[in-house]
Amino acid sequence: MTTFPFEINAREGKARTGVLKTPRGDIRTPAFMPVGTAGTVKALYMDQVKGAGADIILGNTYHLMLRPGAERVNRLGGLHKFAHWDGPMLTDSGGFQVWSLAQLRKMDADGVTFQSHIDGSTHRLDPARSIEIQADLLGADISMQLDECTNFPCTHEEAEESLELSLRWGERSLDAFGERDTQTLFGIIQGSNFADLRERSAKGVVSQGFGGIALGGLAVGEGHEQMCATIDMTVPHLPDAVPRYVMGVGKPIDLVESVARGIDMFDCVLPTRSGRHGQAWTWAGPVNVKNARFAEDLSPLDEAVDCPASRDYPRAYYHHLFRAGEYLGPMLLSWHNTAFFQALMQEIRASIAEGRFEALRAHLSEAWASTKS
Ligand code: GUN
Repeated sequence: MTTFPFEINAREGKARTGVLKTPRGDIRTPAFMPVGTAGTVKALYMDQVKGAGADIILGNTYHLMLRPGAERVNRLGGLHKFAHWDGPMLTDSGGFQVWSLAQLRKMDADGVTFQSHIDGSTHRLDPARSIEIQADLLGADISMQLDECTNFPCTHEEAEESLELSLRWGERSLDAFGERDTQTLFGIIQGSNFADLRERSAKGVVSQGFGGIALGGLAVGEGHEQMCATIDMTVPHLPDAVPRYVMGVGKPIDLVESVARGIDMFDCVLPTRSGRHGQAWTWAGPVNVKNARFAEDLSPLDEAVDCPASRDYPRAYYHHLFRAGEYLGPMLLSWHNTAFFQALMQEIRASIAEGRFEALRAHLSEAWASTKS
């Protein structure tokens, strides 16, 4: 397995900061990946995503195989060209989206058959097809193994069966991936919130020899404390030198607490989804711009966020755009939120490098205490 060089440059406690080096560019870690589900980070130009400080974005097998179709994206030059993003791109394998979005899904030992949430048409994903879509047709720099995202909550027996299935699919994903010079493949740990199962899954995935290791089955309704507990029971079983990625996480407080536990990579729709619904993320916590108290507020959303969306338009204008249902509201707020999440990651990286991460963590934990639930 080709692994991308991963340099850890500084540490504080379990937190680490470094660089994951890919042929399409360096990824500064800890890294937050904006989600570009359907070949677009919703409501943003790629120049804005890059300008906000993102080194890597995420794309989705599930959405792109259904529309416009993975073969079509390939004929059009691959996902980087199609979406006008020339930096590193990670794609999710599709299992999670089948689990959360598809109608009538049917799992078997070899894969999953499901009906599209768009038009009800029937499709199939198995480990080899997921790799073909991600690595061959879309051209992802980092592909994810096909896994089964275990329901939460679930019994010990269900979690065990599910993680064993994901381990077998991991092996098949590796076989299908083979040897490649410029692309790598990450494995995914499952096991719900059971310490013995997370350990078993972690040891299995580690021994399979992936280029990176993800923790799956999180951000599925377990809450902040359970998420932290699950990361705590998993990280001790992971090698130091391999990048660690928590999938689908999360709120700013989740990012800070996961970094404190040794995590290097994240993705979440939160900045753009919140941005479409009027929720602004700031150093002081989240605020809803539709709130009446902003109607004549000429202050910026957050004066410490260095982004035109944050700097050039006051809260009163955001308030008006969202009250009036104008397109520019979601566009500007998705931009601001994306810039805030990147500013947070930059500050996390700098604080680890300068030995003041614990002070930052304590400060933010107090400022954001109400966002933990
Ligand atoms: N995104 C969020 N959680 C998961 C998960 O458990 N598996 C996959 N493949 N993607 C995810």
